[in-house]
Amino acid sequence: MPEKHSALSTQHPALKPARRLEGIEISLIRQINALATPLSVNLGIGEPNLEPDETLREMARRAATTSWRYSPNAGALSLRKRLGEAFGVDPKSDICVTAGTEEGLYAIFQAFVDEGDEVLVPDPGFLSYATLARLAGATVRTYELEPPSWTLDVPALKITKKTKLIVVNSPSNPLGAVVDEAALDAIAQTGCLVVADEVYREIWYEAPPPSMLGRGENVLVVGGMSKSHSMTGLRLGWILGSQALMAPIVTAHQYIATCASVFSQALTEAIFSDADWNAGWLERVRAQFRTQREAALYAIAHELEAELVPPAGAFYAFAPVPFCGTTEFAKALATDAAVLVIPGAAFGKKGEGFVRISFAASVDAIGSGIERIGRYLRGAAR
Ligand SMILES: Cc1ncc(COP(=O)(O)O)c(C=O)c1O
Repeated sequence: MPEKHSALSTQHPALKPARRLEGIEISLIRQINALATPLSVNLGIGEPNLEPDETLREMARRAATTSWRYSPNAGALSLRKRLGEAFGVDPKSDICVTAGTEEGLYAIFQAFVDEGDEVLVPDPGFLSYATLARLAGATVRTYELEPPSWTLDVPALKITKKTKLIVVNSPSNPLGAVVDEAALDAIAQTGCLVVADEVYREIWYEAPPPSMLGRGENVLVVGGMSKSHSMTGLRLGWILGSQALMAPIVTAHQYIATCASVFSQALTEAIFSDADWNAGWLERVRAQFRTQREAALYAIAHELEAELVPPAGAFYAFAPVPFCGTTEFAKALATDAAVLVIPGAAFGKKGEGFVRISFAASVDAIGSGIERIGRYLRGAAR
């Protein structure tokens, strides 16, 4: 007979989480979003506020009628052919389709990073990079980005003999900053494995951001449909890189996800097959975000008295706030002012003193949310 369940049973050593998860918690982003109430204005979200149009819905209906069986691990060849055309890479060997960019990053870290390796990640930067490095047993080193422009200073990268992998995120979450061509080349030339997270690549304001793609045999680029097509829940991403790098990644990916959802693969193939519709959609997406970016910058200037260097891509404004302890500040804003923003500390030490304001929200929500922050700050100053 199995032993009766008791309160003590949860202390059994077999039920203890693995050591690799020690110190790893649900992200602050999720914690803040959990404080939302029906009355909150949510400027904490990392998802586009775009609804599919009728063409996209029709593509999805058709995609649902295709095979529901496993695809090859690296993704359906018909989709890889479309992606290969779009990105100028060999569909047979240089692409692995993943369950979102996040799974792509996980597969890369599992395929290449060993215990004792050093991984260089941006600070402020997307939290996953450091977490994925730790899960793989690596030591995390950061490279600091400095306000107000948050440019990447390549000579300041602390590359050592142990540096295995450098993560570059352009356009950046949470900064909206774009890494220029010269810096991309210089990073590729370090010879380390370079992982460029370009999931925000299609969301830009003045000019398309340069890509890391094709700058060396040591370069991997990850991207996906989440941000450009508001498909966050459909989990469709990709990794692009040379055949030599892709083989171990496909092996890791096989044991993580087997393959990306075949529905999402079919939908993505339909989108890439209709180049005219896709180009029009992306123009509309950028036009909407341009308006929302203007609204956010205007409100931040008037309510928070901060003039930001306009983010060149993505949909975040990283705004300074006159408060120490921005995590407490963001929690107070959520509970007392009913507005959700993400504390900069969620993105690293250099993020302290800032909050990430997502402008993936209606112009009304952006205006009233930032006004609530301003009112709260003025009240706190009294
Ligand atoms: C910089 C960055 N990379 C990757 C991801 C994950 O994207 P996906 O939905 O494709 O997994 C996000 C999501 O917020 C992100 O901000």
